[in-house]
Amino acid sequence: MVLKTVVINIGQLVRVTDKEFLAGPDMNNIQVENGLFALAIDELGKIKYIETQAKINNNADVRAFLKENPDGIIDAKGGAVLPGLVDGHTHPVWAGDRVHEFALKLSGASYMKVHKAGGGINFTVEKTRQASEYDLLQLLIPRLERMMKSGTTTVECKSGYGLNTETELKMLRVLELARREVPIEISSTFCGAHSVPKGISAEEATKDVIENQLPAVIKANKNNELNVENIDVFCEKGVFELEDSKKILVAGQNHNLRLNLHGDELYPLGGAQMGARLGATAISHLEEIDETGITEMAKSGSVAVILPSTAYILRLKHPPVRSMIEKGVIVGLGTDFNPNAHCLSMPTIMHLACVNLKMSLAEALAAATINSAHSLGRGATHGSIQENKFGDLIVLKEKKWEHLIYQLGDNNIIRYVMKKGDIVYSG
Ligand code: NIG
Ligand code: FE
Repeated sequence: MVLKTVVINIGQLVRVTDKEFLAGPDMNNIQVENGLFALAIDELGKIKYIETQAKINNNADVRAFLKENPDGIIDAKGGAVLPGLVDGHTHPVWAGDRVHEFALKLSGASYMKVHKAGGGINFTVEKTRQASEYDLLQLLIPRLERMMKSGTTTVECKSGYGLNTETELKMLRVLELARREVPIEISSTFCGAHSVPKGISAEEATKDVIENQLPAVIKANKNNELNVENIDVFCEKGVFELEDSKKILVAGQNHNLRLNLHGDELYPLGGAQMGARLGATAISHLEEIDETGITEMAKSGSVAVILPSTAYILRLKHPPVRSMIEKGVIVGLGTDFNPNAHCLSMPTIMHLACVNLKMSLAEALAAATINSAHSLGRGATHGSIQENKFGDLIVLKEKKWEHLIYQLGDNNIIRYVMKKGDIVYSG
């Protein structure tokens, strides 16, 4: 295989792991090596060699490549190199921000109060239904670019501001168009059950999702118009409760979609337990998860995708991450980027996870890389630096990787973000 690029002068190599996920105490044992390293990435964007700088200078393949392509070198200048971050949960396709609601929430209105008064998701649904595919794409592109600038190379993206077949398909098509515009990798999720549309019951909405929306998504998948991988439900008291959520998830599972649901965010409904028993790949939020939910998730191996910005912004109780890790639940991280929680930066999320949720720096890194990759079925190919995995990398200006979390609030310490061996951001 012909090479594409060689990254030299890596002062700290943060491989993270050679496993497909890390759970329990293993989350603290990430692989970090100090010295001087280099790695070579092939034409398919996969890592072919990881060697010391001294050794790579003598690698015949690398020497031949660099003779022909002297520009094929990327100099890390002694900085740390980490895997690109994987954002396990976002809602990035929408029109109409909700900056006006931020003030309301700051003055004490709860998420559900705003939601029930016709604001929240339903406000965004109205604006998103009105927007053209082109407008939605123009709004989405800079959001994805901003994620990349903060080190995200793979992101889960949900629909869910359509709540009818036409607009859900429109949102999913916009995600397909975005793949051609932005080099970030998207794992696309159908979330037609994100809210109960105005004027109908949860039961009627469930029926519409199963009988109309989902078949249309599956048909478009089969025609290669869409590449939807996951199905999501906002499983919550007063939205889609357990029975309705289960019906929708099982319907998606029957079409080979991975289950990736919102559970136990505002009320301890038992979404974690229900999802785990169905074999969900991932369950998000979990602020209100109980002991049974934790035990069931540890057993099923479902990834708990934790979203620290939501609890922070809504002043909710924090999810019991320490207890989850102690009991062996695989913990991942996501920004939950949406018009309620407007955060595009995984390093900020990792910082919140450490300070508010009491995760260690190593746990936050494992969660934001290999475990979030595993939550998207990509633990074998993404989320760590190993030969044969994709060359998705962050090159830091600092020699110690912990600066990525420590230096809160800007991404000025990122020298390069690389996707499959190509520089996609240069700082
Ligand atoms: O993950 N809780 C449901 N969904 C989103 C919020 C979406 C919205 O408010 O627009 C979440 O936090
Ligand atoms: Fe969400």
